[in-house]
Amino acid sequence: MSDKADPVLALDDITVGYGGVPAVRGLSAAVRPGEILALLGPNGAGKTTTLLATVGALPLMSGSVTALGEPIDRRIERNARRGVILVPDSRGLFHKLSVSDNLRLAKRRNGTGLDTVYSYFPRLKTMRSRQCGNLSGGEQQMLALAKALLAGPKVLLIDEMSLGLSPVAVQDLLPRLRSIADEHQMAVVLVEQHIDLALGIADSAIVLHHGRVALSASAAELRSHRDRVEAAYFGRTVDDLAS
Ligand SMILES: Nc1ncnc2c1ncn2[C@@H]1O[C@H](COP(=O)(O)OP(=O)(O)OP(=O)(O)O)[C@@H](O)[C@H]1O
Ligand SMILES: [Mg+2]
Repeated sequence: MSDKADPVLALDDITVGYGGVPAVRGLSAAVRPGEILALLGPNGAGKTTTLLATVGALPLMSGSVTALGEPIDRRIERNARRGVILVPDSRGLFHKLSVSDNLRLAKRRNGTGLDTVYSYFPRLKTMRSRQCGNLSGGEQQMLALAKALLAGPKVLLIDEMSLGLSPVAVQDLLPRLRSIADEHQMAVVLVEQHIDLALGIADSAIVLHHGRVALSASAAELRSHRDRVEAAYFGRTVDDLAS
């Protein structure tokens, strides 16, 4: 079904970096409604840089980003209002505030309703009066996802979802992300260090190495050719497996 839809997010040959020095070179990617793209790669590969450029927080040196039929520019607030939402690796939470106050601040008129968000993360409802800073890492990540959903994302970019989380917590969160993407037909770009867990729920994957695309393929292909992912992590560029 989603194969026939036009991409809601298209990165076309983007080069982006800092102080005129490229950190990501010639990256192209397309994500359709309801699809999850796993953006993988070792530390310093350019994953965060790619996400920041996608929401308009970093200027492109060349190439273009198109989201929801419009080119992305540097107006990040406007991009967010249009539904291009980043969950940063810092999670963007107010640690001194309660769970419910964090959620109230994130609420948008056209976003997902609070009850719906609580239905995805019932534990947050039982913890709604707890101070955010006292939640566990996994609970804070649920809160960060819940906040992003309240803003009504159509394109959701998640940086290091599992930072500091146990594999069990990641195994709990990723399938929920899969069903939320399906239900809302949300396009997701997921930066994730747990490669197998990410490939388990993603539709496609890109492995970056030193700012270049070392591998781009469907997640199904990479699940059955896991050695190619390893090779790409070590910078051995392999042919694009996507047919
Ligand atoms: N503000 C900055 N100024 C200069 N160089 C930067 C800046 N931020 C990142 N870089 C460099 O850009 C490159 C890509 O960094 P980036 O943060 O995108 O990597 P990453 O794949 O997200 O890594 P990690 O897995 O460690 O989060 C690295 O070489 C990094 O040192
Ligand atoms: Mg990063």
